[in-house]
Amino acid sequence: MNLKVVEIKQQLDQFRVEDGAHLEAFRLQFLSKKSELQELLGEVKNIAPELRKEFGQAVNNLKQYAQELYEQYKNIVESTTPVQISEIDVTRPSTLYSSGSLHPVTIVMNQVCEIFEKIGFSSVSGPDIEDDWHVFSALNFPQDHPARDMQDTFFVNLNPEFLLRTHTSSLQVRTMEQCKPPIRVICPGRVYRNETITARSHCIFHQVEGLYIANDVSFADMKQVLLYFAQEMFGADTKIRLRPSYFPFTEPSAEMDIECKLCSGKGCNVCKFNGWVEILGCGMVDPNVLENCKINSKTYSGYAFGMGIERIAMLKYKINDIRLFFENDLRFLEQFVNE
Ligand code: PHE
Repeated sequence: MNLKVVEIKQQLDQFRVEDGAHLEAFRLQFLSKKSELQELLGEVKNIAPELRKEFGQAVNNLKQYAQELYEQYKNIVESTTPVQISEIDVTRPSTLYSSGSLHPVTIVMNQVCEIFEKIGFSSVSGPDIEDDWHVFSALNFPQDHPARDMQDTFFVNLNPEFLLRTHTSSLQVRTMEQCKPPIRVICPGRVYRNETITARSHCIFHQVEGLYIANDVSFADMKQVLLYFAQEMFGADTKIRLRPSYFPFTEPSAEMDIECKLCSGKGCNVCKFNGWVEILGCGMVDPNVLENCKINSKTYSGYAFGMGIERIAMLKYKINDIRLFFENDLRFLEQFVNE
């Protein structure tokens, strides 16, 4: 048998036709005027007369075989294509997948961080389980401070030298121990306090604290940064006020209020009828704290502040019960999808 005939037969058998494009390729390769098969047919007349009959028959059989295959493939392609198309009903309503969203606490925490990052603060993180030094001692807490009491702080049963951080000020200590001034950080994170769970307080909540240490940092610098924060967070017309307060790690210390957004300062039940709501604690870092962290308090000064994120979120979204943040009720969470 002529080699070329064998070769074309093999090609025919190996050719896969699954759609219209393959079918056309098949036609071009085996049945068109320029195909090798057609050329072979043209050569029949040049073959020696004694071999011509056999050769001509082989080539004709091959051509017939190709033609039959083509017809078969054509039928398959033409019959399956419309069926497949009709199986996909593009007008059918699709399955609705509800997309998840960020938790409101995460949304607000990110916003707070972004506001401070815009003016050069960088975000730091650290362990939730801390030691006494980073949460209390380095921060100038006296030995008999009530926060050191089991009543107020969760200690680790197996080793009471460790405890769950009650504030992210522990990260400020870690940063001061590790970095040289100027220092400009914010410390977002989860904190834990042994408190009764009510509409206003929870044993777990989130904070963003901030720390700035450099030469000649003043209380006025702090006030301006906190005013900027309040206006970015709550709107350009937001008013703030600072009230004297006490924290072991700052001196002087203050609490910052913003004018109540709900009643524009006239008095309502959210602001307990005094027109202002407290949003954060702040103050100038106590020189003892700087020295505890090996920073020269004669050369450097700084301010620190800290806020509860749930509280900010409650004010921003007018939520009146902190427990809603921890219940994971989809009807509550779904309201923040587009925030
Ligand atoms: N650490 C304080 C708290 O948890 C907040 C605070 C931070 C106050 C920094 C003053 C300065 O309540």
